[in-house]
Amino acid sequence: MSQQPRERWGSRAGFLFAAIGSAIGLGNIWRFPAEAYKNGGGAFLLPYLIALLTAGLPLLILEYTVGRKYRQSPPAAYRELAKPAQVIGWWQVAICFVIATYYAVILAWGIRYIGFSFGEQWGDDPEKFLFGEFLQASETPGDIGGYVGGVFWPLLAVWLVVLLILAMGVRRGIEKANIIFIPSLVLFFLILVIRALTLDGAADGLDALFTPDWSALGEGSVWVAAYGQIFFSLSVGFGIMVTYASYLGRRADLTGSALVAGFANSSFEILAGIGVFATLGFMASSAGVPIDEVAAEGLGLAFVAFPTVISSMPAGWFFGLLFFTSLVIAGFTSLISIVQVVVASVQDRTGMARVPAVLGVGGLIALVSLLLFSSDNGVHFLDASDHFINQYGIAMAALVFVIIVAWWLRRLPTLQEHANLTSAVRLGKWWLVCLGIITPLVLGWMMVDSLRTEFDENYGGYTTDFLVKYGWSVAIGALAVGILISLIPWRRTGGAPPRPPGGGDGPAAPGETPDSERRSA
Ligand code: ALA
Repeated sequence: MSQQPRERWGSRAGFLFAAIGSAIGLGNIWRFPAEAYKNGGGAFLLPYLIALLTAGLPLLILEYTVGRKYRQSPPAAYRELAKPAQVIGWWQVAICFVIATYYAVILAWGIRYIGFSFGEQWGDDPEKFLFGEFLQASETPGDIGGYVGGVFWPLLAVWLVVLLILAMGVRRGIEKANIIFIPSLVLFFLILVIRALTLDGAADGLDALFTPDWSALGEGSVWVAAYGQIFFSLSVGFGIMVTYASYLGRRADLTGSALVAGFANSSFEILAGIGVFATLGFMASSAGVPIDEVAAEGLGLAFVAFPTVISSMPAGWFFGLLFFTSLVIAGFTSLISIVQVVVASVQDRTGMARVPAVLGVGGLIALVSLLLFSSDNGVHFLDASDHFINQYGIAMAALVFVIIVAWWLRRLPTLQEHANLTSAVRLGKWWLVCLGIITPLVLGWMMVDSLRTEFDENYGGYTTDFLVKYGWSVAIGALAVGILISLIPWRRTGGAPPRPPGGGDGPAAPGETPDSERRSA
């Protein structure tokens, strides 16, 4: 099998755009505003910032460092740390597989809603329209009764574009797409926020979002929410940043890039909070009700609350166009990064060239996505799998990863040294403390807290049978798949070429010492 040199980003800006594109996604637009509002308003910004500084950025830097040092996707990179650690890599690949299947369908809905905005085709009752006429959602979660053409075709289009971009490669596909998409997203979203701020009632919305409730800081759940938001939003724990950093050159700055990506993501998140709450302020004032009656998140915010607002404002179609286009672009760049983890991991494992890997692996994800999520049960599957894979997939994999690297392998000092060799901002003791102590404690607490709530009442009011089949089995299945793939005997067949000492295929950074801990296959 042919051995090809590893692809590279064309420029530092290209890598940064891709990393920011992966981070900015649905989590920023429809998750952050509601999380902030429910958890202390303006006071939430304090735990949010602490979560960013003590866990989000340190983990981001860790993922960049592992990716750049070993120049491979998560399973192969973690295997370089210690053979059994590849299980975590495959676990993350399985998580990305699951997330990609349903993340894409939300983009398909967004595309349809760009069209529906013209003429406000959802009529007087956007909620009834969403679940009835548009999604034709089945009344019995779990039984597929048929497929919905209005979802299938745009979903197919989403997949064709994603696979085309991925097939074009890291530099010509992913990097170029992000360089076009991210500035367009910022432009669209800025216009949307300016329009939102000129609506009647906008100030009340911002008041509701930012008025601090300092007593919330005494509640553990508020801190859990802040850390949860940071992990999802920064795209840490998915293996994405390991994958993207594996295409960096040996001299790339790691900590500076992480700081830029982290702060760009949070700035967009706060901008989204302002846009969403200014709009909800308008909605509440037009309906003459308090903000808490209109505050929503997720599907309810994007596909029910926003259509309601669009219908009640002059030239609403323009607002709809801006909002749904922003949602689609933000999601698109994240989806590309999620699928890339799976494609790159299979490439590194098998030595497959990019195009067959994209067609084979990406095609399989697309097929599962179409079969499950364009059905009349798609919305129920999405709800359950999203909840369980987020709560017990991403966070759990991140927890196990930091414990293994920090405590079992005790590899943080070596990685710190590697990052410091080429980084503008040097990592000090705080990085070791954040990753070795704070992050495992917080993630561990998050797990306990989530499990307690899970066993108190069934998520979303679904039956236990449904949650076991489509929630728990997905989360536990991802881990099982990770373990099973790791058991297949590993014969390096290509993909990543034999690397010189130092863990990379390029010249070592100045002063870099050979990585004496590298293990042989
Ligand atoms: N970070 C991505 C998002 O916010 C996954 O949606």
